[in-house]
Amino acid sequence: MRNNFLWGGAIAAHQVEGAYLEDGKGLSIADVMTAGSHTVPRKITDGVLEGEYYPNHEGIDFYHRYKEDIDLFAEMGFKCLRTSIAWTRIFPNGDEETPNEKGLKFYDQMFDYLLSKNIQPVITLSHFEMPYHLVKKYGGWRNRKCIDFFYKFAKVCIDRYMNKVKYWMTFNEINNQTLVENPIFAFTNSGILYKDNEDSLKVMYQAAHYQFVASAKVVNYARSLQQDLHVGCMVAALPFYPQTCNPKDVLKAQKCNQKQLFFSDVQVRGYYPSYMKKEWEIKGYQLDITQEDLHIIKNGCVDFIGFSYYLTSTVSANMSVEKVGSGNAAGEDTVENPYLKTSAWGWTIDPEGLRYYLNDMYDRYQIPLFIVENGFGAVDVIEDGKIHDIYRIEYLRNHILEMMKAIEEDGVDVIGYTVWGCIDPISFTTGEMKKRYGMVYVDRNNDGSGSLERVKKDSFYWYKHTIETNGKEV
Ligand code: BG6
Repeated sequence: MRNNFLWGGAIAAHQVEGAYLEDGKGLSIADVMTAGSHTVPRKITDGVLEGEYYPNHEGIDFYHRYKEDIDLFAEMGFKCLRTSIAWTRIFPNGDEETPNEKGLKFYDQMFDYLLSKNIQPVITLSHFEMPYHLVKKYGGWRNRKCIDFFYKFAKVCIDRYMNKVKYWMTFNEINNQTLVENPIFAFTNSGILYKDNEDSLKVMYQAAHYQFVASAKVVNYARSLQQDLHVGCMVAALPFYPQTCNPKDVLKAQKCNQKQLFFSDVQVRGYYPSYMKKEWEIKGYQLDITQEDLHIIKNGCVDFIGFSYYLTSTVSANMSVEKVGSGNAAGEDTVENPYLKTSAWGWTIDPEGLRYYLNDMYDRYQIPLFIVENGFGAVDVIEDGKIHDIYRIEYLRNHILEMMKAIEEDGVDVIGYTVWGCIDPISFTTGEMKKRYGMVYVDRNNDGSGSLERVKKDSFYWYKHTIETNGKEV
């Protein structure tokens, strides 16, 4: 393991900060999403409605408690903290001329505090929190204008923080939107609400194209500054296995994988892959893609690939095989993998899949990889003021061991590893508190009650030791 390996944790502004209207912040798309559960989807409401409950409004109050929380991260020995900059703190509506100085100041102070503890900020520019105004007025990423809005926001952030932040990512889990059957992903990725009778797939590819252009412009800009900045894409790792060695299953899995890899293919290689151009031709899609866009994409290839890894999925070409779905995380068209257990939310647990994915991605692209999310969402129980989350330790340990095999035995270049939700955040897909990821417990319940007190779980001490020994003792 390299000595400068970036061990750390990951959170996102909208899932922890709260203070949803403080210091000039505008409404973001996360602010109009109600709480759901494993079985009840979150609702997207038309603005903030009375009588509805929006868990992200308060988050875990990181906005006011970030020093206390960063002290805990420092105690664990974090080398980096991955978080995002809430777009709406900087441009509350998204289309203003000038940024909100109070919002900029907040991140200045937070980054300074991190750096004073020797923790590097790793920043996602857009993590499911675009200004709601851009949705209402422009239709979100349906609209080409979002390229300029996003670019302006990114440029302001990079100019302001380039001496403090060296690792940047443009769009979080940009490939989630392929799941067009689940409306939440179109909204969170792109601020899009599909209309009845429209071809959602076509709308999705158009939005993704605008995001590719916007992302490439940001990469290009950061490079032009010659400040040793690294800009990456960020994808959700969703590897698909064939259910059997029947070539039909293998081909089906390959197609499913291509659908996901499409995003990194464009962002890493800088051009549209032939399989996608063919698909668009067959479907008769004429997307708004100009020669200039293609030129920008070509010149804005990312420096590294950030990805989240939680689970793998298995598919079958045989229509009569029972479909079990993958909880709320991947296509519903998936079948059971008898070799894997699942979490209480139906997500498969597959540490070896991480080694497989790391190898696959490194073979394909040959650029550094950064595991910016991995973690276990589970219900924690407090006994005598303690949380014995042995299941979380086991999950993280097994994934780290497989990552280390990929690095040390397979030669994959991995920059770092950040545990998702290092302090219990609001769950993104369900809006729950009870789906906990943290090594630090937050006393907050699904209905928003609780003291917000922080408690160290057993995993806190385990992770501290793992970092101390640079992974030698996991
Ligand atoms: C990723 C997101 O999808 O997975 C995070 O980048 C999210 O924002 C994480 O929280 C875990 O998902 P969930 O739904 O369990 O919170």
